[in-house]
Amino acid sequence: LILTQDDLKKIAAYKAVEYVESGMVLGLGTGSTAKHAVARIGELIQQGKLKNIIGIPTSKMTHEQALSVGIPLSDLDSYPVVDLAIDGADEVDPYLNLVKGRGGSLLREKMVEGACKKFVVIVDESKLVNHIGGSGLAVPVEVIQFCWKFTASKLQNLFEESGCEAKLRTFGEKKEPFVTDNKNYIIDLYFKKSIGDLKVASDAILNLAGVVEHGMFLDMATTVIIAGELGLTVKNK
Ligand code: A5P
Repeated sequence: LILTQDDLKKIAAYKAVEYVESGMVLGLGTGSTAKHAVARIGELIQQGKLKNIIGIPTSKMTHEQALSVGIPLSDLDSYPVVDLAIDGADEVDPYLNLVKGRGGSLLREKMVEGACKKFVVIVDESKLVNHIGGSGLAVPVEVIQFCWKFTASKLQNLFEESGCEAKLRTFGEKKEPFVTDNKNYIIDLYFKKSIGDLKVASDAILNLAGVVEHGMFLDMATTVIIAGELGLTVKNK
């Protein structure tokens, strides 16, 4: 039996859904891993095994999916405290710090997951790294559209010593700017050397006018469920 990466994502997602209890307000993540959790929660609601669930989606895409599988939805204005959020990640370090946002939903994810009592991250083992931002993959930053080149160069200058390259995220053949659910752009930061202290980096990014949020989720995950060829690993904070 050979498991695909998608099988692993599904195994991690189903495990996380075991943490869900009737009556919970749930943060619903975004991406190819989280979508398995959303589907499973919908299934359990339809089967009558979960009752009185309120879902708080982290993107328009998840909003659509959750409605289609029958999860009642609301938002943080009505439910400022979320019992449990389940979401994927792009990178997870040994301290359970994350990079998220390669799907572009980092801002709503950070708002919802920052409001939850328990945040369960679901990944296949390919997402594990020693240092976030160190694997040659991007750390995404959501910026307002106004003078984004100015903001991108400010970001790049912040991390000059780390060999940072700041690139506007685009999509399609015409290389049009990728626009987030919040009508902003994404600047992807690529690092040749270590970012250094993550909290210092986070504060410096957030301190720039024009920046809305970044995809480093520091000290937020309470549990990470990792699915690998050899089985499941659960790490708790
Ligand atoms: C969405 O913007 C992201 O934060 C996703 O949660 C993250 O990219 C993980 O996605 P996959 O589960 O598709 O890898």
